[in-house]
Amino acid sequence: MLLRLLRVYLRPHTKAIVLVVLFQFVQTLATLYLPTLNADIIDNGVIKGDTGYILRYGGIMLGVALVQIVCAAVAVYFGAKTAMGVGRDIRAGIFDRVQTFSVREVGQFGAPSLITRTTNDVQQVQLLVVISLTLMVSAPIMCVGGILMALNQDVPLSALLLVIIPVLVVVVTLVIRQLRPLFRTVQKRIDTVNRVMREQITGIRVIRAFVRDGYEQRRFAEANGQLMDVSLAVGRLMAIMFPAVMLVMNLSSVAVLWFGGHRIGHGMEIGALTAFLSYLMQILMSVMMATFMFIMVPRAEVCAERIEEVLDTDTSVTVVPDPVTDLTVHGELELRNVEFGYPGAEQPVLSGIDLTAHAGQTTAIIGSTGSGKTTLLNLVPRLFDATRGRCSSTASTSGSSTRHCSPAPSAWCRRSRTCSPARWAATCVTATRPRPTTSSGTPWRWPRPATSWRRWRRAWTRRSGRAARTSPAVSGSGSRSPGCSSSGRRSTCSTTRSRRWTMPPTPLFVAR
Ligand SMILES: Nc1ncnc2c1ncn2[C@@H]1O[C@H](COP(=O)(O)OP(=O)(O)OP(=O)(O)O)[C@@H](O)[C@H]1O
Ligand SMILES: [Mg+2]
Repeated sequence: MLLRLLRVYLRPHTKAIVLVVLFQFVQTLATLYLPTLNADIIDNGVIKGDTGYILRYGGIMLGVALVQIVCAAVAVYFGAKTAMGVGRDIRAGIFDRVQTFSVREVGQFGAPSLITRTTNDVQQVQLLVVISLTLMVSAPIMCVGGILMALNQDVPLSALLLVIIPVLVVVVTLVIRQLRPLFRTVQKRIDTVNRVMREQITGIRVIRAFVRDGYEQRRFAEANGQLMDVSLAVGRLMAIMFPAVMLVMNLSSVAVLWFGGHRIGHGMEIGALTAFLSYLMQILMSVMMATFMFIMVPRAEVCAERIEEVLDTDTSVTVVPDPVTDLTVHGELELRNVEFGYPGAEQPVLSGIDLTAHAGQTTAIIGSTGSGKTTLLNLVPRLFDATRGRCSSTASTSGSSTRHCSPAPSAWCRRSRTCSPARWAATCVTATRPRPTTSSGTPWRWPRPATSWRRWRRAWTRRSGRAARTSPAVSGSGSRSPGCSSSGRRSTCSTTRSRRWTMPPTPLFVAR
């Protein structure tokens, strides 16, 4: 899963990755060369008291260190840039896929989980790419190179590596095996916290109205506590792992100094022993980097699985090749023998629905709570597809229409706290209703069907200003008013100075 995801999303960054590998290779070689130079300075300069040798080789060391720094900086720059690009592309991929989802798929994952997948899960994969490109590329080169250089310094002493490396690998593997299931739980519990938080924000009015604050606080505390518990368990394991690795590294240094001390004078110089110790540290550091990777990989794998689940899900609302069927009457909504059942439900919510909403008329759908009003309206913009029957509107037939059919068959508006009544009204006015003047040239007065409608209308009039009251703004005719304008296929409404709304002129307006 993880490999497949990375293969797809890393492909556009191939050039940058090649650069990263190249620069990491050079900087690792430079790092590996430094202890050998140091050993030379000790054996041939310090012990023999040759200052010229020390200065000469000291200068070379400085040059090599400079090359190493520059290469490391360039590699990290391109590595980070690539990783951020991959993160951006995966997020965009999920976003595009979710845009095609019907309510059914959104319900299947749940909005909170989709949010976590787009943010936190992608972040984990992105982190893995950063670590891989900045640390992991150099780790194998460092490990193999370190072993070769250690062998070059002293072969018998290198036998210690046969014990030290397996011990380190075993210690790390034991810890990582326990981390893997915990990471899966962490992601799920982040989902839960997201869900509870979201429910509380969207339902804040109901919570306050029914005085459920205490209950909701306890519910959030429980979800939060569960996330803390599993995060603590992860933290504890991590806290064990690093001291364990350091213990192995320090015991290894003691062993090298102990056995290496006995080798001095028997074919080994002091400089070579220092170099060997440096190489041992480099080898163990690279093993540690790899272990760091082993921590990251399981979590990123879990996240990649969750991301791919979204990317592999196809919408249940199918799009046929020729989606638009021209109907003779415009602005009509027609439902014929429509049946709809939610996935997994025993009985359909709607069955045998026959309904015609005529152009120029306001049709209200009335029913008791849970009778299926919202479900029925959801069928119009194809948030769901009817399981049986036909739902057609103006220029499209549900079951064979696309949400991109032109012109858009319906405008869908749900009043919410994020859509102010004034803005809502201003847009529907421009998009759906002509604003003719009377024969005397005075502005046409709106009918007053509901108090709330009057309020929105007043807000709109205030916003639009004097010109809006005096000039006729006929939808679709290209005439303009300061607040709203419409031209061609689209009507735009700038309700505040900074925000601008666009909405297709539509013969069918659905409000709930
Ligand atoms: N996503 C869903 N999955 C399964 N069942 C659902 C889903 N949404 C609604 N239902 C069920 O479908 C039925 C109709 O729900 P719907 O929301 O359409 O009713 P409604 O008439 O709009 O109710 P209200 O007046 O409360 O808004 C209810 O029994 C509800 O429990
Ligand atoms: Mg409803």
